[in-house]
Amino acid sequence: MDIGIGLFGLGTVGSGVVKILQENMDQITKRTGSRLTVKHAVVHNLNKPRHGFTQDFPITDNASDILDNDDIQIVVEVMGTLDQAYDIIKRALNAKKHVVTANKDLIASHGQELVAIAEANGVDLFFEAAVAGGIPILRTLASSFTADEISRVAGIINGTSNFILTQMAINNLSYAEALKLAQDKGFAESDPTNDVEGFDAAFKLIILSNFAFGIQPVLGDLTINGIANLTDTDIADANSFGYAVKLLGVAQRVGDTKEAISIEVAPHLVPFTHPLATVNNENNAVLVNGESVGEVMLYGPGAGEMPTANSVLSDLTNVATDLALNTPGRPFNSFNQDLNLAKPSQ
Ligand code: NDP
Ligand code: HSE
Repeated sequence: MDIGIGLFGLGTVGSGVVKILQENMDQITKRTGSRLTVKHAVVHNLNKPRHGFTQDFPITDNASDILDNDDIQIVVEVMGTLDQAYDIIKRALNAKKHVVTANKDLIASHGQELVAIAEANGVDLFFEAAVAGGIPILRTLASSFTADEISRVAGIINGTSNFILTQMAINNLSYAEALKLAQDKGFAESDPTNDVEGFDAAFKLIILSNFAFGIQPVLGDLTINGIANLTDTDIADANSFGYAVKLLGVAQRVGDTKEAISIEVAPHLVPFTHPLATVNNENNAVLVNGESVGEVMLYGPGAGEMPTANSVLSDLTNVATDLALNTPGRPFNSFNQDLNLAKPSQ
């Protein structure tokens, strides 16, 4: 089967998607039984030079070139933005195109509505790359904890802030130098405010909370503090007492009956002896506590071109499998729990 892909965005992640599709084409075709081909890409600036892959598809700045194209069955949105991406994905789903996105801001804000639109149209909406870059955390939560009750999901889920904290602690870089390096390496968002103020981690924690507990919190339900106000002295002092400073997202059941969930993003002092203290640079790690399994930790690259693109490709190959088996519209996540949200602490 030939499957056409329309790509919104050819930046860090989009370039990686094209590279993997081109380099591993034979393997992907053999494993899925489908040939996945980029038919069109939409970008912001048509004059920007594009490097690192053979460009054998047209590039445009007109979304309709993809959305009205009957040869395209899957839309991959890796451009970021909130309102524009929302409009594009909604149009794509209503045109019965499957959608793969890495956009955590969008899924955290409009996920429930978009999942309902996908289900109504019988198409897939997958977003593995939206949380923890290259770590396959969402599919793991969706498939491997079905029979367990999760009590806590927590970890390092923003690569940029972890990169900055690591570089300040280990290489004595200033906050500004470390942030610049994270931007140059493609880890940071185009506007890094959400990375360093804790909002990027908050969006990811909202999505993790959905997969772990079935709830759909909004930003106002969370306590959010980032790393922007930390100084090199704070980090050096913590180190001298045997602690690493790590930005953690924590969503957990609280209260006597465990029927409330508290959700918080904040810098923590992590003892050097704890596994999270050894998670450095852009790497992420997510700890999941299940009543039956105990504690599981998933570790890996939380940002960057090829790891994130690999997660996008895992979604693409899942759509291809659904098309081959004639089972699209399979829900990735669900919204069915009746849990309360604990009041955010100040
Ligand atoms: P980049 O800024 O590197 O690339 C964005 C791409 O989208 C560029 O090609 C840009 O065009 C295009 N674009 C931006 N705005 C528009 C618009 N309004 N219309 C058309 N095209 C547009 O971003 P990333 O690749 O880093 O990130 C993309 C998405 O993936 C974001 O949602 C991000 O949060 C998410 N993500 C990123 C990760 C990472 O490590 N970078 C990891 C996990 C998720 P042009 O090239 O012309 O500027
Ligand atoms: N800016 C994000 C981060 C990219 O640094 O974690 C991965 O989602």
